[in-house]
Amino acid sequence: MGCSFMLVCMCFTLYVYPHLSSTAVSGLENEVDEGSLYPEILRDEAVSRLYELGKVSDAEGYLERTFMSPASVRAGYLIRSWMEDAGLRTWIDKMGNVHGRADGSNPSAKALLIGSHLDTVIDAGMFDGSLGIVSAISALKALSVRGKLGRLVRPVEVIAFSDEEGVRFQSTFLGSAAIAGILPASALQYSDKSGSTVQEVLRSNSLDATEGNLHELKYDPESVWGYAEVHIEQGPVLERVGIPLGVVKGIAGQTRLKITVRGTQGHAGTVPMSMRQDPMVAAAELIVLLENVCKHPEDFLSFDEHCKDSSVKSLAGSLVCTVGEISPWPSASNVIPGQVVFTVDIRAMDDMGREAIIYEYSKRMYHICDRRSVSCNLERKHDAGAVMCDPELTAQLKSSSQTALKKMANEFDGEVPILMSGAGHDAMAISHLTKVGMIFARCRGGISHSSKEHVLDDDVWAAGLAVLALLESDM
Ligand code: GLV
Ligand code: MN
Ligand code: MN
Repeated sequence: MGCSFMLVCMCFTLYVYPHLSSTAVSGLENEVDEGSLYPEILRDEAVSRLYELGKVSDAEGYLERTFMSPASVRAGYLIRSWMEDAGLRTWIDKMGNVHGRADGSNPSAKALLIGSHLDTVIDAGMFDGSLGIVSAISALKALSVRGKLGRLVRPVEVIAFSDEEGVRFQSTFLGSAAIAGILPASALQYSDKSGSTVQEVLRSNSLDATEGNLHELKYDPESVWGYAEVHIEQGPVLERVGIPLGVVKGIAGQTRLKITVRGTQGHAGTVPMSMRQDPMVAAAELIVLLENVCKHPEDFLSFDEHCKDSSVKSLAGSLVCTVGEISPWPSASNVIPGQVVFTVDIRAMDDMGREAIIYEYSKRMYHICDRRSVSCNLERKHDAGAVMCDPELTAQLKSSSQTALKKMANEFDGEVPILMSGAGHDAMAISHLTKVGMIFARCRGGISHSSKEHVLDDDVWAAGLAVLALLESDM
């Protein structure tokens, strides 16, 4: 992949559309038929549903819904009731995905799938995932209240995927990968921190996924026309250019690692510094190494050995690495830990470059561990290659987004930006089944994976209108 997403971002900082600021968008032009804008469904009800869903949490005081947790199950039922309210036929599959389908005028035609995820990170915002589900249901409801669902040119199915964040099992896309047919049967045996497996948590919710029946969830590619996903941008570009919507060109690939460092557990007051095999300080050195490698990949890769010059250049702009979770054992202030486990999340637009970084990092990791006399083990928990969105579907989503913005603010005559996504999305898994395209909605300050995540009511409306415009197009 040539151009890094940082470069794309820089391009879009060059122009601004002040007339499309949040206040301008909310002012309807007199000549627009307000009926076709469905503000009560696409804005007011959609926003109130997002707030309602944002309260469905396993935690007190912050939002947390991980795969098949009690709150996730409640959220699934709530979403299902909204799908039924929109006139859709609904079901929940064996991986906990919630489906709602309208057959339209030609039930045997290839279906358009629209979706996003119902799970969240810990201390999440309420728009990540939920916006895509709610805006799709709202757009179908807008058709339903006018008696137009039966006129859809092809079946349309909304899917609320059960796992995109991968927080509970460290393996993302459990729901969407099953539908795409790329979830290995072994995934049913992944275990969470309490030792429960994916299969067990499904069974405790009366969902009987087995190695023998998992393949039944896979959709026949011949039955599917394409997949569209609305998602918050989770970055600052749309806000900077003053445009509520953008479309996505491609999604960065990602790898998640679990690194276990084992040393010698001991007394904090009695073991001399020179005699320690302390996994915590080894982990600290490994984390700083990761930062160095990812900040300056060109210093760590010789491009003739690992990857092409273009990969190194792409990495220099798009590579991001994060340690988001660290657990020492036994975790007490007066104990030198015996073991430290931490996660590494690595993303880049260039898959070969990402592999080269993992190779270089692990090589250096083992040197550090030897020098510090601790043992280190690296497990790959998740891999997803970079995905390019389908150009034709992207053009359709762009035109739907522009139609929506034009309806809302008649003077809009610009082009919606084309962005790269550093965040992962269910579209990555579904790209193994069918062509994919995404619409991004502006979010305040580009903040996401935080309770500060926010989308303006009018931008929720714009997202719903864009989906509606797609549904009303020839597709
Ligand atoms: C999902 O939000 C991810 O990109 O980690
Ligand atoms: Mn997320
Ligand atoms: Mn998401």
